[in-house]
Amino acid sequence: MKALRYLKPYWLFALLCPLAMILEVSMDLLQPQLMSDIINNGILGGGTLDSNLSYVVITGLKMLMFSIIGCAGGIASAAFGTTAAQKMGNDLRKDVFAKVMHLSFQQTDKFTTGSLVTRLTNDITAIQEFVSMSLRMFVRTGMQFIGGIAVILTLNVNFGIVLVISLPIQLIVLAIIMKKAAPLFGIVQKKLDKVNSVVQENVTGARVVKAFTREEYEIDRFDNANTDLMTTNLKVQKLLATLNPILMVIMNASVIAIILIGGFQVEAKNMMVGNVMAAVTYITQILMSVMMVGMMFQQVSRASASIKRVCEILDTEPVISDGENKTDCGTEGTVEFKNVSFNYPGFSGRPVLSNINLTVEKGQMVAILGATGCGKTSLVNLIPRFYDATDGEVLVDGVNVKDYSVDELRHKVSIVLQKSELFSGTVSENIRWGNSDASDEEIKRAASIAQADSFIGGFNDGYDTMISEKGASLSGGQKQRMAIARAIIKKPEILIFDDSTSALDLSTEAQLHKALRENLQGVTVIMIAQRIASVMRADKIAVLENGEICAYGTHSELMQSSDVYRDIYYSQMKNGEGENNG
Ligand SMILES: Nc1ncnc2c1ncn2[C@@H]1O[C@H](COP(=O)(O)OP(=O)(O)OP(=O)(O)O)[C@@H](O)[C@H]1O
Ligand SMILES: [Mg+2]
Repeated sequence: MKALRYLKPYWLFALLCPLAMILEVSMDLLQPQLMSDIINNGILGGGTLDSNLSYVVITGLKMLMFSIIGCAGGIASAAFGTTAAQKMGNDLRKDVFAKVMHLSFQQTDKFTTGSLVTRLTNDITAIQEFVSMSLRMFVRTGMQFIGGIAVILTLNVNFGIVLVISLPIQLIVLAIIMKKAAPLFGIVQKKLDKVNSVVQENVTGARVVKAFTREEYEIDRFDNANTDLMTTNLKVQKLLATLNPILMVIMNASVIAIILIGGFQVEAKNMMVGNVMAAVTYITQILMSVMMVGMMFQQVSRASASIKRVCEILDTEPVISDGENKTDCGTEGTVEFKNVSFNYPGFSGRPVLSNINLTVEKGQMVAILGATGCGKTSLVNLIPRFYDATDGEVLVDGVNVKDYSVDELRHKVSIVLQKSELFSGTVSENIRWGNSDASDEEIKRAASIAQADSFIGGFNDGYDTMISEKGASLSGGQKQRMAIARAIIKKPEILIFDDSTSALDLSTEAQLHKALRENLQGVTVIMIAQRIASVMRADKIAVLENGEICAYGTHSELMQSSDVYRDIYYSQMKNGEGENNG
């Protein structure tokens, strides 16, 4: 119940809410009593017409006053309850979001985005509703139930017979239905995850869906998930729908029983008519409160499914955590792989990387070349610890990456991901995202190194041009250059390009390389590429094949020593890709 601890700061609201509710229920409990007084003493009373009438008026006014007080209590209770629930939900959502932000890659992979979204929205809302309702309803139901029983028994002990029979029947019905419904609530949330996942994938991938005219297929897929959700929901609702009518029958039967018993008691002059009327109201309240327990139980099962799902996130410790020795080894810029092997967590079989040994000196530009799927991205992902090596060591500045604090490490290393992700905002906001302290000058400089200033200059609003969500308003190559500028402005020691120039033409790419050499002296650059033309200017080239480094050296060395490299070279030359490289 870790999630409910979030209520603690708002304990005052959480306390005032049931207190105000006690006021409301007490007033409710007084009403039938007063009503019976009116009937017994006012209407059926033995006094004169005038005195009877004034009794009715005075008691009526009393009832009105109590009901106004009760109403005030009710409003206050609702206000306190909602405040507590909303504020708590807000804090909870904030923390869960922060947690999601700190999850490691493998954990986000595991949860799936759709499910994370449901947990952040729908599940937390369910918890909020549960809190706000239970703060009020527990007290209301408890008081109505116990208070009602106490009063009805003081009216006449014989009414106890009705309670002894009807209450157990009600409870049994309730228990049977709830036992069936409880597990379904968790399933409903899971189905909702599915729906959200499909929505998520298709909204983000809308362009691909259209390009492949797969709309109908995706609509079908959504339909399936949606129908699945509906079927489960219907199952729950059908169960719950049977509950109330059955309980109502029991209640009506009880009312008739009360009237019968009351009738006999009135005949026997043990009781007055007004008291029988009051008893009818009380038995209704008592049995209603059992129905309320049913509703509360629903909410509890629903909320506990949600609480479990939210806690799953809160309890997930990032696998990638800060190292023990918070080293401070100054600025350098060397990277070293020592006998590194790697497999994705949860995947077995042939390792994605095996026995990697590679040293990159400060200020060097090292290229990694290899066929698609050979493990290039996986290799560089180990440097900022997106994943941890399964075997061997990755060293940055001579220190194992696991020994750094994650922040410190990622401060040293800047990576331009294979898929450039931009955010909605202006051009300069997107670049400044890499370093919030950067001045406008620095932004311009980073953009110009990244060969982005020319196209930014072409925009009407220049650096203030709005970029739409995920950079949809930019071309692939423009997006890549924005992402490069964002990485440069971070002023890292180590700059990694994961196939980040794939969308650039060769001459722009050559200019980028030249600018990097001139402006970022001392910065270590690791550059992944598939085109020979992109890598031949590098100081050293590592050729990766099936997760192993099969050749290492300069372009001319590799041309002599490596068959694989030569093969790639000639195949690309033949296709004309290597033309006009400098
Ligand atoms: N998150 C992941 N979980 C499981 N396996 C993965 C994951 N990412 C990649 N792989 C697998 O690891 C292998 C290497 O992938 P990687 O992304 O490193 O290749 P790459 O050389 O960067 O390819 P490309 O040039 O196409 O980007 C592939 O076989 C891929 O299926
Ligand atoms: Mg890759």
